Amino acid sequence: MAKQNIYDNETFFEGYRGIRKKESNANDLFEIPALMSLLPDLKGKKILDLGCGFGEHCKEYVNKGAERVVGIDISEKMLEIAQKENADPKIEYIRMPMEDLDVITEKFDLVISSLAFHYVEDFAGVLKKIYALLNPGGLFVFSQENPINTCYSDGFPRWTRDENGNKLYVNLANYGVEGERESTWFVEGVKKYHRTFSTVVNSLADAGFIIQKMVEPKPTEELLKKYPEHADLFHKPDFLVVRARK
Ligand SMILES: C[S@@+](CC[C@H](N)C(=O)[O-])C[C@H]1O[C@@H](n2cnc3c(N)ncnc32)[C@H](O)[C@@H]1O
Repeated sequence: MAKQNIYDNETFFEGYRGIRKKESNANDLFEIPALMSLLPDLKGKKILDLGCGFGEHCKEYVNKGAERVVGIDISEKMLEIAQKENADPKIEYIRMPMEDLDVITEKFDLVISSLAFHYVEDFAGVLKKIYALLNPGGLFVFSQENPINTCYSDGFPRWTRDENGNKLYVNLANYGVEGERESTWFVEGVKKYHRTFSTVVNSLADAGFIIQKMVEPKPTEELLKKYPEHADLFHKPDFLVVRARK
């Protein structure tokens, strides 16, 4: 199956780095707090981070007491930053696609993945490999773009707007058509994979996981006062965050 490495495209990489540096980026405001809220006590834990990117999360897991963290990513450029900015004796960064996880023989207490699965075509296959790498009772916590979001592709307007351009409501099409989507994000032809909510849940169950909790993060009143543009999240969720147990 196809494995895309768009984060090694220079234009994409610089664009992505730029938005992650912005103060009001949705990762920092919504996705990361939701993901962290689902983590157990990390003291003494062995953790595998899939699609670890710049390694910021890996470093945070060590700060929270993890004994060992293995961060894997398909992108050389992302791992270069991880090595430079988030190196630690307790962290090992490995360049590899998560589709090849079965080459890893070590077992982990916790597998975590932040916003990487929507780039993966064979989600069900990867879930089975994650299950095999977890110790009994181990936890699997991940975020992905919400299935409501992954169904879009270029050429379809996401919002219906009033005459002043204000967003009124979300347009939805082809939610039930699963598979590859191409969109323009910094560069043309960025491939992501759309799966419905039920496919995500059923794939977890088929791999043997027990789902413990799901979060679709929304802004608090306080946050809305500071960043009113994020009221969009009351129309449609951007992220899906899940905690499951082996
Ligand atoms: C949106 S970034 C998230 C990075 C990091 N997890 C974070 O939250 O800051 C997605 C990451 O997933 C990686 N990725 C995409 N497809 C992958 C694959 N098949 N195997 C491993 N990593 C992949 C990308 O290279 C990129 O670093």
